Amino acid sequence: MCGIVGGVAERNLVPILLEGLKRLEYRGYDSSGMAVLNDSGLPESSQQSEILRIRGLGKIAALEEKIDAFDQGEFKGQIGIAHTRWATHGAPAENNAHPHICNQSIAVVHNGIIENYQSLKARQIDLGYRFTSQTDTEVVAHCIHRHREHTGCLLKAVMQAVEQFEGAYALGVVSIHDPETLVAARKGSPLVIGVGIGEHFIASDVSALLPVTQRFIFLEDGDVAEIRRDAITVYDKQGKVVERPVKQSSLTASSVELGEHRHYMHKEIFEQPQAVTDTLEGRITQDAVLVNAFGNEAERWFESVEQVQIIACGTSYHAGLVARYWFEDIIGLPCQVEVASEYRYRNPVVRNNTLIVTLSQSGETADTLAALQQIKQLKQEKNLPTLTICNVPESSLTRESDMTFLTHAGPEIGVASTKAFTTQLVALALLITAVGKTQGRMSSEQEQKIVQGLQKLPGLVKNTLENEDLIAKIANGFADKTSALFLGRGTMYPIALEGALKLKEISYIHAEAYPAGELKHGPLALVDEHIPVIAIAPNDELLEKLKSNLQEVKARGGQMIVFEDEKSCVDAHGDFEVVKATTNVGRITAPITFNIPLQLLSYHVALIKGTDVDQPRNLAKSVTVE
Ligand code: F6R
Repeated sequence: MCGIVGGVAERNLVPILLEGLKRLEYRGYDSSGMAVLNDSGLPESSQQSEILRIRGLGKIAALEEKIDAFDQGEFKGQIGIAHTRWATHGAPAENNAHPHICNQSIAVVHNGIIENYQSLKARQIDLGYRFTSQTDTEVVAHCIHRHREHTGCLLKAVMQAVEQFEGAYALGVVSIHDPETLVAARKGSPLVIGVGIGEHFIASDVSALLPVTQRFIFLEDGDVAEIRRDAITVYDKQGKVVERPVKQSSLTASSVELGEHRHYMHKEIFEQPQAVTDTLEGRITQDAVLVNAFGNEAERWFESVEQVQIIACGTSYHAGLVARYWFEDIIGLPCQVEVASEYRYRNPVVRNNTLIVTLSQSGETADTLAALQQIKQLKQEKNLPTLTICNVPESSLTRESDMTFLTHAGPEIGVASTKAFTTQLVALALLITAVGKTQGRMSSEQEQKIVQGLQKLPGLVKNTLENEDLIAKIANGFADKTSALFLGRGTMYPIALEGALKLKEISYIHAEAYPAGELKHGPLALVDEHIPVIAIAPNDELLEKLKSNLQEVKARGGQMIVFEDEKSCVDAHGDFEVVKATTNVGRITAPITFNIPLQLLSYHVALIKGTDVDQPRNLAKSVTVE
């Protein structure tokens, strides 16, 4: 939920940490802070080092201003930690912002939740520790301080302290008594080490460190690392030194820059043709899907599958809902789609030979990860192959799954998911084809047709994006609206859900989605001239039924916006605004293509409303806490 960055170097780290925070701002942005050990602590100095800390409310820009104003630019250090926060325990406030400091000697940044913090806090109060925040993190600082006093070593102190924590953490810790050492630890929350030359860094994800390195060590759950300028030593949860491989990232610093776009969301919407191409690359041939795109063992896993359970949250859940139609309709395989936060607490019945698919942009969503871990406990008794479709290599979900399929959408920075969703749908289309052909449920003609449709997809998406000006004009009509209704049938119902989610997320307009046939069972009562109704009308077997539903709306004076296929021929008159969004789309390509104008609509409505498009209020990009 929060973002952390830290480092140890010979140069002043403050600009690097600030840049890292800006790149992590998408993870949380209600407050931020940085702590550095001032230079006097280094060996050549005879003085004791001290911790300098600056914290600010709101965006990183506020922190930057304070740093610039600090003692004529004297906020400098060669070892430091920084944090951007999304409040969980304790309101957004400067005293709750990280780093948290104990006795002017230990500073800590933390991402995650220490679930047993209340009992730890009670004990620490008895020991005389003073609390200045309402966060769970302050207990971490005190706990490490206490162990540091006993052991005389920061590394040992962190190792002993983490044994007391229940919950999830990624930690960066510095101490005035160990002025050349940064200690990092992770369990349940992501943390990478950026490997430099004579300098090393930590961060919640690689994007934060791309300006300084492309080489990364991905820490495993339970790891603690001691990081010095000349060495990185990683210890596993048993406290043994382990070698974790150094991996080269293919991402570059510019891949997460805005370029000519005003917002990341806009950039990411327009990157979709390329993202689709990249996701397909190496996964299909001229007319076939490569089953081993899902892993070398995929064919063996897929052979025995009798049903599919897809588990995800938010937008990723909507992608799963689209896939359910495909699994059942195209290859006749039963498919359930589950919201992870419900699934993990409801003792679900999982039949033998179920393919478990977790869908996630980040690969770090706490509920999805917990649901997968719960399933893994059943794996002794049942054949439950697990596959994750994910956009972030080396993320927690990829490490917990039998099979991984990486969507190659590239870094998604805007909080509202766009290209990740589109590429998840591409991945799911490949999955049904791979499972279908492995089990003889799909003919090679069907496979060929799907592959040809997917090959056309980048072009279809590109054409759809050309409607931007028209959609921007339509968005003007939302300036004074407080509610909207989205309608669709078949796979367009989950697309309607996704359209409604995007609108509420970034423009704060209340929006609901219904299967169009459900209107008459209640929601029709909402319809009047004040509520825009957005309908998705592909030219498919449900079109005539949808047209009747639209008449029901029209009869109640509703203002309609219809996104149609060129061949759908929805009657455009009166309060009907019809956008010919695409043409010639098939069962697989239609939901992917029709989602694009809905993304553009919510983007342009948000621009009119003047909201913070990339970082909408109260939301964060990766939800690594419950
Ligand atoms: C909405 C959005 C969220 C995420 C959800 C799951 O635009 O981005 O609803 O889809 O938090 O996140 P991932 O896909 O990272 O598991």
